Amino acid sequence: MNILLTGGIGYIGRHIAAVLINNGHNLVIVDNLSTSCIGDIQKLESVLGCAINFINADIRDTALVLGVINDYSIDCVVHLAALKIVSESFSKPVEYYDNNVGGMLSLLRAMNSAGCKSIIFSSSAAIYSETKSQPLTEDSTINGGSPYASTKLIGEKLLSELAASDRDWKMGILRYFNPVGCHESGLLGEGIEDHLSNLMPCIMRVVSGKSNFLKIYGGDFLTPDGTGVRDYIHVMDLAEGHLASIKALFEKGSHTLNLGAGRGYSVLEVLNKLQEIQGIKIPYQIVEKRKGDLPIVYASVERAVNFLNWKAKRSSLEDICESVQSELSRMKP
Ligand code: NAD
Ligand code: WQD
Repeated sequence: MNILLTGGIGYIGRHIAAVLINNGHNLVIVDNLSTSCIGDIQKLESVLGCAINFINADIRDTALVLGVINDYSIDCVVHLAALKIVSESFSKPVEYYDNNVGGMLSLLRAMNSAGCKSIIFSSSAAIYSETKSQPLTEDSTINGGSPYASTKLIGEKLLSELAASDRDWKMGILRYFNPVGCHESGLLGEGIEDHLSNLMPCIMRVVSGKSNFLKIYGGDFLTPDGTGVRDYIHVMDLAEGHLASIKALFEKGSHTLNLGAGRGYSVLEVLNKLQEIQGIKIPYQIVEKRKGDLPIVYASVERAVNFLNWKAKRSSLEDICESVQSELSRMKP
């Protein structure tokens, strides 16, 4: 199949690119490199052993995207291009709406004009309302909660309204939980840049000596060890979820699904396992809770497993920590 992957040079995109190309799909990537770089393209090409079709452009350039869809006879778009940092979205709401909602409107306009009406959309667990009722199913209440989450919610709503207006549209909405780890080469990982605020980059900054200690946000949650529990999914499992979603889109039709591992680990469990694998102490301090953080968040994946005939295969605590270790060993001079 001919696939346009937007945001395909970013952390998750390069893993999806590797999986789709290795499974025989023809790919063209449109990315403006706003949160990724040329070096990431070179790493992806070295992992794949071939050149990739890459266009350095912003998806808000509708005419360009339309040209790409026509030139490459695109059958399906996998749409990842977005800004994703929840805390940053509170200080830059206009940029987030402009990029994420504006980008999606532009993309959908181009797809409509070209008659390409099949799309997989990266949504997020961030759209679910705060609730103690876990696991989260696809029918759990959704409400946004941050400008970032609102952009994903609007994206989902836009797609369902589009589908209601024109029955030719097919859409796979995938709500990711906490993607971590990297390709077995260790080359495609998320990295440790300062702006990355998720748990794994923060831990990796400590291990690599860029930070002195890990701040653990909250030690008195109602969880077995007091620290927050999340559903960490190995990014290669997530990428394979996209492969399955594309297949299901054409064989069975539209779907909205959680992509997680279906169970949670606490911050201390992750930290302890990494210390064991690394054979080192990772210093930490328990600090104040982050605003809005829930004690436990994990996915019900029953619907995804059944509909996609897919499941997370490498997302045990050992697997994800070994994967992080593999990225760390690549970083050492
Ligand atoms: P990332 O920042 O590493 O990658 C995003 C890519 O999109 C980057 O290469 C960036 O340059 C590109 N991009 C952004 N805006 C663009 C635009 N207007 N035009 C063209 N390219 C643009 O982020 P990621 O972690 O790979 O996330 C990918 C997608 O998955 C995003 O939509 C994100 O919201 C979603 N998501 C991520 C997580 C997570 O924890 N990483 C969780 C849930 C959902
Ligand atoms: C995980 C756990 C923290 C950093 C976010 C977004 C969500 C999605 C995934 C985009 C929590 C704790 C973290 C640190 C810590 N992204 N932690 N010290 O908050 O579950 O989800 O990323 O769509 O939208 O909200 O992920 O990795 O930030 O946190 O103690 O330095 O690690 O409190 O319990 P989160 P996270």
